[in-house]
Amino acid sequence: MVSALFVFGYAAVFIVPVLSCRTKEYKANDGQCCPMCNEGTVVQRDCTAYSGTQCRSCDLGTFMNQPNGLYSCFPCTSCDTGHGLFVKQNCTATTDTVCDVLNGYHCKDLIESNGCSLAEKHSQCAAGQRIKEHGTSRTDTVCDVINGYYCRGLIESNGCSLAEKHSQCAAGQRIKEPGTSRSDTVCEDCQPGFFSKDGVNCTAWTICSESQIKVEEGSSTSDVVCGSASRHRYGFILSVVLFLIIVICLVITGFVKACKYHLTSLHVFSLCICIAPACNTKGKQAASALPRPVPIFLFNFPYHKLIIVFLSYLW
Ligand SMILES: *[C@@H]1O[C@H](CO)[C@@H](O)[C@H](O)[C@H]1NC(C)=O
Ligand SMILES: *[C@@H]1O[C@H](CO)[C@@H](O)[C@H](O)[C@H]1NC(C)=O
Repeated sequence: MVSALFVFGYAAVFIVPVLSCRTKEYKANDGQCCPMCNEGTVVQRDCTAYSGTQCRSCDLGTFMNQPNGLYSCFPCTSCDTGHGLFVKQNCTATTDTVCDVLNGYHCKDLIESNGCSLAEKHSQCAAGQRIKEHGTSRTDTVCDVINGYYCRGLIESNGCSLAEKHSQCAAGQRIKEPGTSRSDTVCEDCQPGFFSKDGVNCTAWTICSESQIKVEEGSSTSDVVCGSASRHRYGFILSVVLFLIIVICLVITGFVKACKYHLTSLHVFSLCICIAPACNTKGKQAASALPRPVPIFLFNFPYHKLIIVFLSYLW
């Protein structure tokens, strides 16, 4: 019983204080609790039964920002100008260097005690994007896809990794879904009976009315072309009639001259259809002057007048 008490008492005296020193005390190398050194200093010699802890000041380029039982100071942080940092506050014995970011950079790793430890240049907005928010010393530039473009790449915190122009739908297609900032235009072929010239909308082919005829078939890129049916029909009949008259006239005048016949009634007929000069006296004289009169009408026939008459009837 006595020995048990002794063991407990031993443990209470020699082990418990070692497990946890009081605040402002630290556990020395030999296991006993010693008073801590103040900020700006570290332990030079642990305390003994007869003396307190011996402390020393931090050397230049080192600091200690808390009461401690440490044997060396912390090295001061250096601000890396190459990485967009500059010294905002020099290192002291009790405080670390405080770094801040240069213009055009933003902090990637902010630490309360010494400012920024890592900075990065502000992102540039890539092609097809514009600045939505300018970068600050704490935030990067935020980019936004401009109208007419969509993000094809990954959406990152500062915008899109790759933006591309919306596709244009081809002729014969329509825009099924307009492009957004996140998706490309969706195109769709025009259905049969519809056409699209510009690749925007499909329009139904024109239906020719009763009095019209289809002059040209429609396609996916062009409309049906209608024409006046009556005009064409009459024009066709007229031109056939005219053509026949001309042929007959040519045959007759040629025949008359070739045979040197003097068929007055046929001349009159020729005059009536405006090709009188073919049968005039000059032609006859020319015909008689030539040994072979058959091709005479070919020379002095007023073809130009014929063509004019023919065209005026057509149109
Ligand atoms: C830091 O100290 C250096 C000299 O050691 C001095 O040139 C500089 O201006 C100081 N910087 C600040 C922010 O106090
Ligand atoms: C195309 O059709 C849509 C409706 O379907 C309409 O809102 C738009 O104005 C049309 N665009 C053109 C160019 O005709």
